[in-house]
Amino acid sequence: MSKKVLITRIIPSLAYELLTQAGFEVSVWEGVGAMTQTQLMERAQQVNALISLGSNKIDSQFFNACGHLDIIAQFAVGYDNIDVAEATKRGIPVGNTPDVLSDATADVAFGLMIAVSRKMFYLHNTIAKGEWKQFEPLKNLGIELHGKTLGIFGMGRIGLVMAQRCKGAYNMKIIYNNRGRNEEAEKRFGAQWVSFDELLEQSDVLSVHSVLSDETRGLFNKSAFAKMKRSAIFINTSRGGVHHEQDLIEALQTQTIWGAGLDVTNPEPMHATNPLLSMPNVAVLPHIGSATVEARDGMARLAAENIIEFYKTGNVPYCVNPEVLKR
Ligand code: GLV
Repeated sequence: MSKKVLITRIIPSLAYELLTQAGFEVSVWEGVGAMTQTQLMERAQQVNALISLGSNKIDSQFFNACGHLDIIAQFAVGYDNIDVAEATKRGIPVGNTPDVLSDATADVAFGLMIAVSRKMFYLHNTIAKGEWKQFEPLKNLGIELHGKTLGIFGMGRIGLVMAQRCKGAYNMKIIYNNRGRNEEAEKRFGAQWVSFDELLEQSDVLSVHSVLSDETRGLFNKSAFAKMKRSAIFINTSRGGVHHEQDLIEALQTQTIWGAGLDVTNPEPMHATNPLLSMPNVAVLPHIGSATVEARDGMARLAAENIIEFYKTGNVPYCVNPEVLKR
Protein backbone atom coordinates (compact mmCIF):
# COMPACT_ATOMS: atom_id res chain seq x y z
CA MET A 1 0.00 0.00 0.00
CA SER A 2 1.33 3.41 -0.86
CA LYS A 3 2.49 5.68 1.96
CA LYS A 4 0.52 8.82 2.64
CA VAL A 5 2.11 12.25 2.90
CA LEU A 6 0.43 15.43 4.12
CA ILE A 7 1.81 18.80 2.99
CA THR A 8 0.54 21.36 5.48
CA ARG A 9 0.39 24.33 3.09
CA ILE A 10 0.48 24.82 -0.68
CA ILE A 11 4.18 24.85 -1.60
CA PRO A 12 5.85 24.65 -5.05
CA SER A 13 4.25 21.80 -6.98
CA LEU A 14 7.63 20.10 -7.46
CA ALA A 15 7.26 18.48 -4.03
CA TYR A 16 3.88 17.06 -4.98
CA GLU A 17 5.13 15.89 -8.38
CA LEU A 18 8.26 14.15 -7.04
CA LEU A 19 6.29 12.39 -4.31
CA THR A 20 3.47 11.20 -6.57
CA GLN A 21 5.94 10.04 -9.23
CA ALA A 22 7.65 8.03 -6.48
CA GLY A 23 4.31 6.36 -5.67
CA PHE A 24 3.22 8.32 -2.60
CA GLU A 25 -0.35 9.34 -1.98
CA VAL A 26 -0.11 13.06 -1.33
CA SER A 27 -2.65 15.40 0.22
CA VAL A 28 -2.17 19.14 0.53
CA TRP A 29 -3.87 21.48 3.01
CA GLU A 30 -5.47 24.01 0.74
CA GLY A 31 -7.09 26.23 3.34
CA VAL A 32 -6.30 29.91 3.65
CA GLY A 33 -3.30 30.44 5.93
CA ALA A 34 -1.78 27.94 8.31
CA MET A 35 -3.75 24.99 9.71
CA THR A 36 -5.01 25.26 13.25
CA GLN A 37 -3.43 22.87 15.70
CA THR A 38 -6.57 20.74 15.73
CA GLN A 39 -6.72 20.58 11.94
CA LEU A 40 -3.03 19.71 11.83
CA MET A 41 -3.35 16.86 14.31
CA GLU A 42 -6.53 15.49 12.74
CA ARG A 43 -5.03 15.41 9.26
CA ALA A 44 -1.61 14.19 10.39
CA GLN A 45 -3.23 11.24 12.15
CA GLN A 46 -4.32 9.96 8.74
CA VAL A 47 -0.87 9.94 7.09
CA ASN A 48 2.55 8.34 7.43
CA ALA A 49 4.72 11.37 6.74
CA LEU A 50 4.47 15.12 6.98
CA ILE A 51 5.91 18.07 5.12
CA SER A 52 5.66 20.79 7.76
CA LEU A 53 6.18 24.54 7.77
CA GLY A 54 7.52 26.87 10.44
CA SER A 55 3.96 27.88 11.29
CA ASN A 56 3.11 24.33 12.45
CA LYS A 57 3.64 23.74 16.14
CA ILE A 58 5.13 20.27 16.31
CA ASP A 59 5.33 20.01 20.09
CA SER A 60 4.80 17.26 22.66
CA GLN A 61 1.01 17.63 22.40
CA PHE A 62 1.33 17.05 18.67
CA PHE A 63 3.53 14.00 19.21
CA ASN A 64 1.09 12.56 21.73
CA ALA A 65 -1.55 12.65 18.98
CA CYS A 66 0.72 11.79 16.04
CA GLY A 67 3.55 9.70 17.44
CA HIS A 68 2.88 7.19 14.66
CA LEU A 69 4.53 9.38 11.98
CA ASP A 70 7.51 7.83 10.20
CA ILE A 71 9.19 11.12 9.28
CA ILE A 72 8.69 14.88 9.44
CA ALA A 73 10.23 16.82 6.56
CA GLN A 74 10.34 20.52 7.37
CA PHE A 75 9.99 22.93 4.42
CA ALA A 76 12.59 25.32 5.88
CA VAL A 77 16.15 25.28 7.12
CA GLY A 78 15.04 26.40 10.60
CA TYR A 79 13.10 23.96 12.74
CA ASP A 80 12.53 25.79 16.04
CA ASN A 81 8.80 25.02 15.69
CA ILE A 82 9.61 21.32 16.15
CA ASP A 83 10.42 19.68 19.46
CA VAL A 84 13.33 17.71 18.00
CA ALA A 85 14.23 16.12 21.35
CA GLU A 86 10.71 14.67 21.52
CA ALA A 87 10.91 13.46 17.90
CA THR A 88 14.25 11.81 18.67
CA LYS A 89 12.85 10.14 21.78
CA ARG A 90 10.16 8.65 19.58
CA GLY A 91 12.63 7.66 16.84
CA ILE A 92 11.11 10.04 14.28
CA PRO A 93 13.63 11.62 11.89
CA VAL A 94 13.24 15.33 11.18
CA GLY A 95 14.48 16.62 7.83
CA ASN A 96 15.14 20.21 6.79
CA THR A 97 16.18 22.12 3.66
CA PRO A 98 19.59 23.79 4.02
CA ASP A 99 21.90 25.13 1.26
CA VAL A 100 19.22 25.81 -1.35
CA LEU A 101 18.17 29.02 0.41
CA SER A 102 21.57 30.27 1.57
CA ASP A 103 22.11 32.65 -1.37
CA ALA A 104 18.58 34.03 -1.19
CA THR A 105 18.71 34.60 2.57
CA ALA A 106 22.21 36.11 2.53
CA ASP A 107 20.99 38.46 -0.23
CA VAL A 108 18.28 39.73 2.10
CA ALA A 109 20.80 40.30 4.92
CA PHE A 110 23.16 42.05 2.48
CA GLY A 111 20.32 44.12 1.00
CA LEU A 112 19.03 45.14 4.45
CA MET A 113 22.55 46.20 5.44
CA ILE A 114 22.79 48.56 2.47
CA ALA A 115 19.19 49.75 2.83
CA VAL A 116 19.77 50.65 6.49
CA SER A 117 23.16 52.28 5.88
CA ARG A 118 21.49 54.66 3.38
CA LYS A 119 18.03 54.89 5.05
CA MET A 120 16.48 53.61 1.83
CA PHE A 121 13.13 52.30 3.04
CA TYR A 122 12.46 55.43 5.10
CA LEU A 123 13.44 57.80 2.29
CA HIS A 124 11.33 55.88 -0.19
CA ASN A 125 8.37 56.49 2.11
CA THR A 126 9.10 60.23 2.37
CA ILE A 127 8.68 60.49 -1.42
CA ALA A 128 5.42 58.58 -1.27
CA LYS A 129 4.22 61.04 1.39
CA GLY A 130 5.08 64.04 -0.87
CA GLU A 131 7.92 65.16 1.40
CA TRP A 132 10.71 65.30 -1.23
CA LYS A 133 11.12 68.99 -1.98
CA GLN A 134 14.74 69.59 -2.98
CA PHE A 135 18.33 68.34 -2.87
CA GLU A 136 19.53 68.45 0.73
CA PRO A 137 23.29 68.86 1.24
CA LEU A 138 23.17 68.03 4.93
CA LYS A 139 20.18 65.76 5.22
CA ASN A 140 19.50 62.08 4.52
CA LEU A 141 23.14 61.20 5.18
CA GLY A 142 23.97 57.54 5.52
CA ILE A 143 27.19 55.74 6.36
CA GLU A 144 29.53 53.82 4.05
CA LEU A 145 30.37 50.18 4.43
CA HIS A 146 33.74 49.94 2.70
CA GLY A 147 36.46 48.53 4.97
CA LYS A 148 34.11 48.28 7.97
CA THR A 149 33.95 45.27 10.28
CA LEU A 150 31.22 42.71 9.73
CA GLY A 151 30.39 40.60 12.78
CA ILE A 152 28.57 37.37 12.08
CA PHE A 153 26.70 35.63 14.86
CA GLY A 154 26.23 32.02 13.71
CA MET A 155 28.78 31.21 11.01
CA GLY A 156 26.90 28.45 9.19
CA ARG A 157 26.00 28.18 5.53
CA ILE A 158 24.09 31.48 5.33
CA GLY A 159 26.62 33.39 7.44
CA LEU A 160 29.35 32.17 5.10
CA VAL A 161 27.57 33.56 2.02
CA MET A 162 26.96 36.88 3.83
CA ALA A 163 30.69 37.01 4.63
CA GLN A 164 31.49 36.34 0.97
CA ARG A 165 29.14 39.12 -0.19
CA CYS A 166 30.59 41.65 2.28
CA LYS A 167 34.22 40.72 1.60
CA GLY A 168 33.75 40.94 -2.16
CA ALA A 169 31.66 44.11 -2.25
CA TYR A 170 33.26 46.17 0.53
CA ASN A 171 36.44 44.34 1.58
CA MET A 172 34.97 44.21 5.07
CA LYS A 173 36.95 42.67 7.90
CA ILE A 174 35.06 39.56 9.03
CA ILE A 175 34.79 38.52 12.66
CA TYR A 176 32.41 35.86 13.93
CA ASN A 177 31.09 34.13 16.99
CA ASN A 178 29.94 30.56 16.74
CA ARG A 179 29.94 27.52 18.98
CA GLY A 180 32.68 25.96 16.85
CA ARG A 181 35.33 27.39 14.56
CA ASN A 182 34.50 27.69 10.85
CA GLU A 183 37.73 26.87 9.03
CA GLU A 184 36.28 27.62 5.62
CA ALA A 185 35.37 31.17 6.67
CA GLU A 186 38.81 31.63 8.19
CA LYS A 187 40.60 30.32 5.11
CA ARG A 188 38.48 32.02 2.42
CA PHE A 189 37.73 35.37 4.05
CA GLY A 190 40.33 35.67 6.81
CA ALA A 191 37.44 35.54 9.29
CA GLN A 192 38.46 35.68 12.93
CA TRP A 193 36.62 33.90 15.77
CA VAL A 194 35.92 36.30 18.64
CA SER A 195 34.04 36.03 21.93
CA PHE A 196 30.41 37.18 22.03
CA ASP A 197 31.37 40.40 23.84
CA GLU A 198 34.16 41.10 21.35
CA LEU A 199 31.65 40.59 18.54
CA LEU A 200 29.34 43.15 20.13
CA GLU A 201 32.13 45.63 20.79
CA GLN A 202 33.96 45.43 17.45
CA SER A 203 31.23 45.02 14.80
CA ASP A 204 30.20 47.94 12.58
CA VAL A 205 27.54 45.66 11.14
CA LEU A 206 26.39 42.72 13.26
CA SER A 207 24.43 40.14 11.28
CA VAL A 208 22.60 37.29 12.99
CA HIS A 209 22.53 33.91 11.21
CA SER A 210 22.10 31.55 14.15
CA VAL A 211 19.39 29.09 15.03
CA LEU A 212 16.78 30.01 17.62
CA SER A 213 17.38 27.82 20.66
CA ASP A 214 17.36 28.08 24.44
CA GLU A 215 20.88 29.52 24.22
CA THR A 216 20.08 32.19 21.63
CA ARG A 217 16.55 33.24 22.64
CA GLY A 218 16.52 36.95 23.50
CA LEU A 219 20.33 37.07 23.36
CA PHE A 220 20.38 40.46 21.66
CA ASN A 221 18.87 42.44 24.51
CA LYS A 222 19.44 45.72 26.31
CA SER A 223 22.76 44.66 27.78
CA ALA A 224 24.00 43.32 24.40
CA PHE A 225 22.97 46.48 22.53
CA ALA A 226 24.68 48.60 25.23
CA LYS A 227 27.99 46.92 24.38
CA MET A 228 27.69 47.68 20.66
CA LYS A 229 29.14 50.73 18.89
CA ARG A 230 26.83 53.74 18.70
CA SER A 231 27.46 53.64 14.93
CA ALA A 232 26.58 49.93 14.59
CA ILE A 233 23.93 48.37 12.38
CA PHE A 234 22.12 45.27 13.68
CA ILE A 235 20.79 42.83 11.06
CA ASN A 236 18.63 39.80 11.80
CA THR A 237 17.50 37.38 9.09
CA SER A 238 17.40 34.24 11.28
CA ARG A 239 14.57 34.24 13.82
CA GLY A 240 12.90 37.17 15.54
CA GLY A 241 13.18 35.42 18.89
CA VAL A 242 16.96 35.91 18.90
CA HIS A 243 16.55 39.63 19.56
CA HIS A 244 14.45 41.30 22.25
CA GLU A 245 12.30 43.62 20.15
CA GLN A 246 11.40 46.18 22.84
CA ASP A 247 15.07 46.46 23.83
CA LEU A 248 15.96 46.94 20.15
CA ILE A 249 13.38 49.73 19.83
CA GLU A 250 14.83 51.43 22.90
CA ALA A 251 18.42 50.99 21.69
CA LEU A 252 17.47 52.75 18.45
CA GLN A 253 15.41 55.47 20.17
CA THR A 254 18.26 56.25 22.58
CA GLN A 255 20.85 56.04 19.77
CA THR A 256 22.65 53.25 21.60
CA ILE A 257 23.08 51.71 18.13
CA TRP A 258 22.73 53.42 14.74
CA GLY A 259 20.32 51.26 12.78
CA ALA A 260 18.67 47.90 12.25
CA GLY A 261 17.52 45.70 9.40
CA LEU A 262 15.11 42.89 10.15
CA ASP A 263 13.65 40.16 7.99
CA VAL A 264 12.36 38.42 11.09
CA THR A 265 10.45 40.01 13.92
CA ASN A 266 9.09 39.10 17.29
CA PRO A 267 6.18 38.50 17.04
CA GLU A 268 5.45 37.74 13.40
CA PRO A 269 3.68 39.36 11.74
CA MET A 270 4.94 42.69 13.07
CA HIS A 271 2.08 45.01 13.95
CA ALA A 272 1.65 47.93 11.52
CA THR A 273 1.96 50.43 14.39
CA ASN A 274 5.36 49.14 15.51
CA PRO A 275 7.66 52.19 15.98
CA LEU A 276 10.44 50.39 14.07
CA LEU A 277 8.46 50.92 10.87
CA SER A 278 8.76 54.69 11.05
CA MET A 279 12.39 55.00 12.10
CA PRO A 280 14.75 56.48 9.49
CA ASN A 281 17.59 54.01 10.10
CA VAL A 282 15.47 50.87 10.08
CA ALA A 283 14.38 48.53 7.31
CA VAL A 284 11.94 45.70 7.96
CA LEU A 285 10.83 42.90 5.65
CA PRO A 286 8.12 40.26 6.17
CA HIS A 287 10.31 37.13 6.54
CA ILE A 288 11.21 36.77 2.86
CA GLY A 289 14.73 35.34 3.22
CA SER A 290 14.01 32.25 1.14
CA ALA A 291 11.34 33.86 -1.05
CA THR A 292 12.85 33.35 -4.49
CA VAL A 293 11.54 30.98 -7.14
CA GLU A 294 14.85 29.11 -7.09
CA ALA A 295 15.09 28.75 -3.32
CA ARG A 296 11.48 27.71 -2.82
CA ASP A 297 11.74 25.12 -5.61
CA GLY A 298 14.93 23.83 -4.01
CA MET A 299 13.20 23.59 -0.63
CA ALA A 300 10.27 21.70 -2.16
CA ARG A 301 12.69 19.29 -3.84
CA LEU A 302 14.73 18.63 -0.68
CA ALA A 303 11.63 18.16 1.48
CA ALA A 304 10.28 15.59 -1.00
CA GLU A 305 13.67 13.88 -1.39
CA ASN A 306 14.06 13.58 2.37
CA ILE A 307 10.85 11.53 2.44
CA ILE A 308 11.48 9.53 -0.73
CA GLU A 309 15.01 8.59 0.28
CA PHE A 310 13.91 7.68 3.80
CA TYR A 311 11.40 5.11 2.57
CA LYS A 312 13.80 3.84 -0.11
CA THR A 313 17.01 3.47 1.90
CA GLY A 314 16.34 4.45 5.52
CA ASN A 315 18.55 7.51 5.04
CA VAL A 316 17.38 11.13 5.23
CA PRO A 317 19.76 13.31 3.18
CA TYR A 318 19.23 16.40 5.37
CA CYS A 319 18.39 15.20 8.84
CA VAL A 320 18.63 17.28 12.03
CA ASN A 321 18.52 14.24 14.35
CA PRO A 322 20.52 11.62 12.36
CA GLU A 323 21.00 9.57 15.52
CA VAL A 324 17.54 8.07 14.97
CA LEU A 325 18.44 6.66 11.54
CA LYS A 326 19.40 3.03 11.26
CA ARG A 327 22.99 2.52 10.21
C1 GLV B 1 13.00 30.17 6.84
O1 GLV B 1 12.88 30.98 7.71
C2 GLV B 1 13.69 28.94 7.02
O2 GLV B 1 14.04 28.58 8.16
O3 GLV B 1 13.90 28.25 6.02
